[in-house]
This record gives sequence, structure tokens and C-alpha cells, in this order.
Amino acid sequence: MSTSDDLVGGNVDPWLSVSEPYQPDPPGHESDLTHSVQIRDVRKAFGSFHVLTGLNLNFVDNAVTTILGPSGTGKSVLLKHIVGLLEPDHGEVVVFGQNIWNVSERERQEIRKRFGVLFQDGALFGSMNIYDNVAFPLRKHTDKSESEIRKIVMARLEEVGLTRAVNKAPGEVSGGMKKRAGFARALVLNPSVVMFDEPDSGLDPVRTSLLNDLILKLHAEHGGTYILVTHDIRTARKVSDYVGVVWKGKLIHYGETEEAFNSDLPFVRQFLSGDSVGPLGMD
Ligand SMILES: Nc1ncnc2c1ncn2[C@@H]1O[C@H](COP(=O)(O)OP(=O)(O)OP(=O)(O)O)[C@@H](O)[C@H]1O
Ligand SMILES: [Mg+2]
Repeated sequence: MSTSDDLVGGNVDPWLSVSEPYQPDPPGHESDLTHSVQIRDVRKAFGSFHVLTGLNLNFVDNAVTTILGPSGTGKSVLLKHIVGLLEPDHGEVVVFGQNIWNVSERERQEIRKRFGVLFQDGALFGSMNIYDNVAFPLRKHTDKSESEIRKIVMARLEEVGLTRAVNKAPGEVSGGMKKRAGFARALVLNPSVVMFDEPDSGLDPVRTSLLNDLILKLHAEHGGTYILVTHDIRTARKVSDYVGVVWKGKLIHYGETEEAFNSDLPFVRQFLSGDSVGPLGMD
């Protein structure tokens, strides 16, 4: 079990040491909630730089969980572990009951098909129009006919309000439209787990709010375990059922949204209120 004295650099942090980092229920004491995605004591270093330092988290199924935390704290690295793009140095990533590094590459590919991912930059293929971008996972991973694909793609594009942009290249549409197209593509294989890495970055407040409405609408319609990373506290408050706070490579809080916003932990309080006074500085 990790403790607060194995933080990056080995320093005991006086602000963090007021509370143990979050630990999921020990075996035999699980709650009724199910967890398709479980992170167990995951550690990851790049060279001598320790990014994840013993992170534990059982994401609640069929809920929206938002991960918050300072820049460079390992949120994107965590998402890459969940989709199996990065292998932990220590610990386990258990997805749909399987440690994804105890299975073959082929099985890992199969598991990945059950994920929908919207990366930080939308990551559309610049050489394909919006339609082909959204159709891409269906063409790559299924043997559906073009007419079946058309039905699915158009339904998804309609949900995100992009039916009139099907023939446009990503370079010809706005940032908000690119995000919506990325969202449609992430959902096209009916994934049970959907991950968004800062879907709101670079969007104005109104577009952010519209995107949040869209996330809530699609989650209500299709269900699924949504994992969202954002820096926008209003987004976190609006869309999340649960909030996880990552700091220095550990999860230091996980709970229902209102609970997080009422937390007594100095770091959580500072971060969620955007206060300049507290354990987090510019360093
Ligand atoms: N492949 C890699 N090789 C080396 N270092 C990496 C690699 N991926 C991430 N890092 C480093 O790990 C740290 C955490 O990165 P990560 O992208 O997870 O941060 P983040 O919490 O998502 O930050 P932001 O909020 O700015 O997106 C950073 O210092 C980053 O430079
Ligand atoms: Mg990131």
C-alpha cells in the first residue's frame, strides 16, 4: 500500500499528509457499485521522473467521473494507461475484469474496441472529411457495409449537430465543431467506456457549456462509463457524478461531486476554488 511518504522526490508533504491518498475498498468490502476500470497502485516513471506514484482508482460504472489536477500531474498519462497505450512500471490496470497486461496484444486490441477516446486535441485525420473521420473506426474494426456505416455515421453526426459539415475537412471547421466530430467518432462503436481528455480546451464559455450539455445528453441516452479530464471547474461541477483529484501522481480524493466541492483537504479546496493560497504554487 502506498503512503504519503513515497511522494515524488520522497518528501513528506505537510499539506497532503493531513489525509491518506484515496484507497478503493479492500477486497471483501466492495460496495454495490461495479467498476469496469480499476487502477491498482499504478506507478510510472519516464527516466528518473516519477509521474504516477501509486495511483488507485475504481471508476464507478455508468457514471461520469471527472479527473481534476494541476498541469503535468499525470492525468493524460493515466488515460493512456487505461487504453493500454502505456504499460505501468508497477501495479495493475484491470479493465472489464482483466489485467490488460496479462493478455495478448490481440486481446488488448479487442478490449480497446470497447473504449471511445477523445484525445486532448480532437485528433481528427486532417486528410479526411468529417464523414470519413467518423466512419473510420467502423471501417477499421467492423465488417459493416457502407450503407450500414452511413446510417450509423449520420445518426451520430445528427446527435452532435454536424450533418451539414459532413464534407468539410477538419481544417475548415471551428474548434467546437472539431470537438463534436471527435465526440461522434469516439461514440461510433457504442463503447462501454468513453474517455475525454480536455474536451473543452480552446472553446469559448458558451461552446464549452453546449459541449457539456451534449455530454450529458449522450450519456443519458447511451449510458456508459464516462471519464473526463478537464481544467474547467464549472464543467466538472455540471457534468460529473464523481470527481477524482490527482496530485503528484496519486489520487488524493474520489467521491461524489458535491462532496469534492465541500472537501476539507487543503489541496482539494484550493484547486476547486481556484485559490492562489494553499499547497499548490507555480513550481
Ligand atoms: N511519453 C512520455 N515521455 C516522457 N515524459 C512524458 C511522457 N508522457 C508524459 N510525460 C511527462 O509526464 C508528465 C505528466 O504528463 P501528462 O500529460 O499526464 O500531464 P497532465 O496532467 O495531463 O497535464 P495537462 O493538464 O497539462 O494536460 C509531464 O511532465 C510530461 O512531460
Ligand atoms: Mg493532459
